[in-house]
Amino acid sequence: MPLIQLTNVSKSYTDPGSGAQVPVLRGVNLSIEAGESVAIVGPSGCGKSTLLNILGTLDLPDAGEILFDGEALASLKPAGLAAVRSQKIGFIFQLHHLMPQCSVLENVLLPTLALKSPPKDAVQRAEALLEQVGLKDRMDWKPAQLSGGERQRVAFVRALINQPRLILADEPTGALDETNAAALTDLLLTLQKSSGVTLVMVTHHRAQADRMGRVLTIHEGVLQ
Ligand SMILES: Nc1ncnc2c1ncn2[C@@H]1O[C@H](COP(=O)(O)OP(=O)(O)OP(=O)(O)O)[C@@H](O)[C@H]1O
Ligand SMILES: [Mg+2]
Repeated sequence: MPLIQLTNVSKSYTDPGSGAQVPVLRGVNLSIEAGESVAIVGPSGCGKSTLLNILGTLDLPDAGEILFDGEALASLKPAGLAAVRSQKIGFIFQLHHLMPQCSVLENVLLPTLALKSPPKDAVQRAEALLEQVGLKDRMDWKPAQLSGGERQRVAFVRALINQPRLILADEPTGALDETNAAALTDLLLTLQKSSGVTLVMVTHHRAQADRMGRVLTIHEGVLQ
């Protein structure tokens, strides 16, 4: 059974000027197996973030069906969706969205607070993951004291802390130079393979996209 299955998913937005419905996704079909790495590419405005937000239960489709880990998302109430999101999905965005007042370690531990019973070994896991991304000696530092690439590595560790089934990354290397972008992608793929997590990454960097197991392009509202 695939981890994610989208059938005929569509989404329109309302044009704030004219009030007209503007279709963004027009019947997306997608099946992703557990443990896969998938890149989503396409021109600006084609609906990449819209699709990622729908995969992450942050936005709802207008029509179509989404099965996540065998469960129909449409059948879940907001609390059920929030539980899926906090337990099974980790997010990384273009900007790190780290809390400036919290240390690196505290930032990494934040998603565990959303769990009903935070795991007892959370701090050990956080330390081990920070070591894997080369930031163990920065645990007590604040985000402002880190480089852009280092902040993204912390954001990545934060996305992994609850041992999710799925990592959704929206242009995680978008604010980095080529060298740092390549290094972050290396790290993403190394940890993705060792943890077995599924990775879906939106990127404008063709070189990073080609490192994923599959590259999907959004064209005129459908995936190719
Ligand atoms: N909340 C919203 N209200 C109205 N229109 C929206 C909203 N969110 C997105 N859109 C529109 O949907 C389209 C797709 O947006 P989306 O953010 O998914 O594009 P994208 O492929 O991620 O682009 P980029 O590469 O620039 O990030 C755009 O035309 C955008 O204007
Ligand atoms: Mg986007």
